[in-house]
Amino acid sequence: MLIDTHCHLDFKDFESDRDDVIERAKRADVGAIINVGSSMAGTKESIALAEKYDFIYAACGIHPHDADRVRDDDLNSFRALLDNKKVIALGEIGLDYYKNVSSKNNQEKLFRRLLKEAKDKGLPVIIHNRDAHEDTLGILKDVMGDSIKGVMHCFSGDEDFLERCLRMGFCVSFTCNLTFKNAGRLKEIAKLVPMDRLLLETDAPFLTPQAFRGKRNEPGYIKHLAEEISRIKGIGIEEVAGITTENAKRLFSIC
Ligand code: NI
Repeated sequence: MLIDTHCHLDFKDFESDRDDVIERAKRADVGAIINVGSSMAGTKESIALAEKYDFIYAACGIHPHDADRVRDDDLNSFRALLDNKKVIALGEIGLDYYKNVSSKNNQEKLFRRLLKEAKDKGLPVIIHNRDAHEDTLGILKDVMGDSIKGVMHCFSGDEDFLERCLRMGFCVSFTCNLTFKNAGRLKEIAKLVPMDRLLLETDAPFLTPQAFRGKRNEPGYIKHLAEEISRIKGIGIEEVAGITTENAKRLFSIC
């Protein structure tokens, strides 16, 4: 069994065949899916999916791209959603200085407020960080302290950043971009992640594995990522599946 710890089945990319995609994931031995909300609407739809399917869980988050438009009302209704028992994490939340869709100032404000919610509820966090390593770690430390329950989603840093994330207690997840032909550098980093901190994710509909590039990604493709990690680590795919599944269950308290 494999766990897809991060995908966006609520996106309109899945509008026409969502149930089929979920059925295919089941047939591909995906034992649990965490659908990650990245907006107010997406968070609500994540919860609706989690209520419809036993093996789907919801993370509630507002993407840093939305930081300029979030109002206080939104945050109040967001808070109320966190009490649903299928909600197992806060995410994705964080900073995105690559696209800077919202101002840095508003991104930081939103990130701090959502981290505070996670802290109050005792929920793990799913962190989105693009080109914002220093500020991401600084804010995390400031709000959450030194020991954090969470995952650095779609990891994109060097050895030094990895070391600092691990020291803070973070898990690390790679998406199917690890299977890309030009992912040599990322594979070197993946080699350094201790197995007991590693999680799998598709980030579907994005970052489709090399074998299906150009198509939409879906949770059923996650075994391509598990196979890549098995090659990188030089261990069997069963072991990759077993350990990453245990890690996901432990971090998100699921199954
Ligand atoms: Ni995502």
